[in-house]
Amino acid sequence: MPVVAVVGGQWGDEGKGKIVDMLAEKSDVVVRFSGGDNAGHTVVNPLGQFALKLVPCGIFYPQVTCIIGNGVAINPAVLLEEMDMLQERGIDLSHLYISDRAHLIMPYHTFLDGLEEESRGGRAIGTTRKGIGPVFSDKIARLGIRAGDLLDRETFRERLSHLLEHKNDIISRVFGAEPLSLDDVFRQYCEYGERLAQYIKETTLMIAEAIDNKGKVLMEGAQGMLLDPDFGTYPFATSSSPLAGEASIGAGFGPTRIDQVIGVFKAFCSRVGAGPFPTELEDDTGDLIRERGHEYGTVTGRPRRCGWFDAVAARFSQRVNGCTGLAITRLDILDVLPRLKICVSYELDGQTVNNFPASVTALARCQPVYEELPGWQTPTSDIREFGQLPAEAQQYVTRIEELLSCPVDVISVGSAREQTIVRRDIM
Ligand code: IMP
Repeated sequence: MPVVAVVGGQWGDEGKGKIVDMLAEKSDVVVRFSGGDNAGHTVVNPLGQFALKLVPCGIFYPQVTCIIGNGVAINPAVLLEEMDMLQERGIDLSHLYISDRAHLIMPYHTFLDGLEEESRGGRAIGTTRKGIGPVFSDKIARLGIRAGDLLDRETFRERLSHLLEHKNDIISRVFGAEPLSLDDVFRQYCEYGERLAQYIKETTLMIAEAIDNKGKVLMEGAQGMLLDPDFGTYPFATSSSPLAGEASIGAGFGPTRIDQVIGVFKAFCSRVGAGPFPTELEDDTGDLIRERGHEYGTVTGRPRRCGWFDAVAARFSQRVNGCTGLAITRLDILDVLPRLKICVSYELDGQTVNNFPASVTALARCQPVYEELPGWQTPTSDIREFGQLPAEAQQYVTRIEELLSCPVDVISVGSAREQTIVRRDIM
């Protein structure tokens, strides 16, 4: 029985929420395994439209066990707000669990994320300012506070008091800003702890049991491969790994248990935040894609930079993630274009480059080499069978499949759940 990881193949915002929602219905367990509330997963289902940041997309199905894994950094204020919103809209949360090992975003993390960004000036990363860099740095530096710590107030206060002293030194001495009050932070997090206590559990056993009982386990990724701290456009990256390999580490089971990896790719590219983007379109076509696709950040509202599909980057992503299948989303956004381009290689200092470079300065100098394909200029949102797509749209998808050496299992032609072409059942 399958353990399926669904991961973003580009710079995030590929439409993973819709694919996960579709697969969640058939799953026994859905686990979020990385990122934090820098992610925004939009789900449109019969209950309405939801923008989820932390709660796994399986929450809409009462029979699905939903786990926020140890690999996720949780801002408890944001999580509680999201839980309140879901409950107000009639969604049952009794099947939600939070790993006791998940790290917590503390007020100094969000504060320092903003201060650090300001201090970078023209070199700013364009972070979401949700405290992601600081919380994952603290995790690795062994300075973190975890969800389970909220359940033991005495130890929590002792640890917080020691950590806050250190953080306040940085806040006041390095940045000249106002230090935070221990009492205020402690009181606030104790309140969060009280409300979250019933959800905080040891979660690795739940997952192991589901796998051993041949249950269907869906691993919900966040962000996209090109934001990975190892393989993305470092340092213009996020601070936790969006890769399929992280599904195992961010949830607590062995990598040999993952059966399928579905890479989600938009039919074009978008990026929010700074960093090189070889196929970026800073022209009318880019604006058209942005407006047709409402390409504005779910979390920050920032306009997304848009460009042509980059098969060099996508091939790299397919390989590093080990995708067994692809989901191509937002094909309908391209419906009006007379001609389309796919970047098949780069030209760097007079040489043809077929692999995605490690260095962002090299990537910034890469000129995309395009293959042109005819557009279809026909609406596709009502089409449900691959064979019913205009021949040019079929050709576009087939070309991506060839360039990535991986089958396209799912094609999304609209935000609603039914606006989907399924070529192979994944779950
Ligand atoms: P951070 O994750 O907030 O530290 O931001 C680091 C980089 O990742 C910035 O360029 C963000 O715009 C980008 N980023 C983080 N989360 C997402 C996401 O969910 N979608 C798209 N970009 C993201």
